[in-house]
Amino acid sequence: MHIINDPKLLREKIKQLKQQGQEIAFVPTMGNLHDGHLQLVRQAKKKAPVVVVSIFVNPMQFNNAQDLQNYPKTLEADTQALTQEGVDIVFTPSAEVIYPNGLAKQTYVEVPGLSDCLEGELRPGHFRGMSTIVNKLFNLVQPDYACFGEKDFQQLAIVKQMVFDLALPIEIIPVATVREPSGLAMSSRNNKLSIAEKEKAPFLAKVMNQLAVDVQKQQVEHSLLIHDASREINSAGFNVDAIDIVDSSTLQAVEKNSKQVVILVAAFLGCTRLIDNKVVNLHH
Ligand code: PAF
Repeated sequence: MHIINDPKLLREKIKQLKQQGQEIAFVPTMGNLHDGHLQLVRQAKKKAPVVVVSIFVNPMQFNNAQDLQNYPKTLEADTQALTQEGVDIVFTPSAEVIYPNGLAKQTYVEVPGLSDCLEGELRPGHFRGMSTIVNKLFNLVQPDYACFGEKDFQQLAIVKQMVFDLALPIEIIPVATVREPSGLAMSSRNNKLSIAEKEKAPFLAKVMNQLAVDVQKQQVEHSLLIHDASREINSAGFNVDAIDIVDSSTLQAVEKNSKQVVILVAAFLGCTRLIDNKVVNLHH
């Protein structure tokens, strides 16, 4: 496995692979890898003979300096896991190399509409930073395929829209959320949970799944269902940040003719913000 931190060297390597006619599948990450990421890598391996993984904690998508500073960095364990998965190239650039002129002067990519609502409203600038780095990494890696987890539902929707709008020659591969046997969605943030919190955390998915059953029945107004679910989650010791039920393709309010909705939940457990989502098909 090649570990490359210089974009020029990466470009040379990619050029060689392209000249050999090799297809490339790409998995962008911010490191601190868990089984969910490795599942993305496994999907990437199914799509193309060459797999590139990037590890870059992108300062442009953090709206909280403390959060950026505290972001766990586990490069050695990450590269070990990626070697075992048979990854070909790990790209680990520094922030200085990616943003040589600083963040304020960086040209950006923004997907309007999809970026401003939901998580985008709670974390201003987050999706602009995310779509900008993903676009930049796409330009450096030049993948044929790129894998993104469904756990970050809005991120996936934005990336798909960006690829469409900018006519990027890349197929986006959505990968299902990997869960602990308890039902808890895997996330780097789970490492921050205390033992007691880790025991409590699966309750979020449990309430979300029940909410999905109730949404599918189409008998009770969504606002009431959300109210009850929030109360239940809060009384279990969480602090609900947001629960939304929106059309899965527009991420806007559910319409009479919406065929599929997504339930998005975000709640703090102690200092850790957990997110999860579930898609529900509506039968008209
Ligand atoms: O999902 C993530 O880890 C990040 O948002 C991504 C896609 C690697 C961009 O920094």
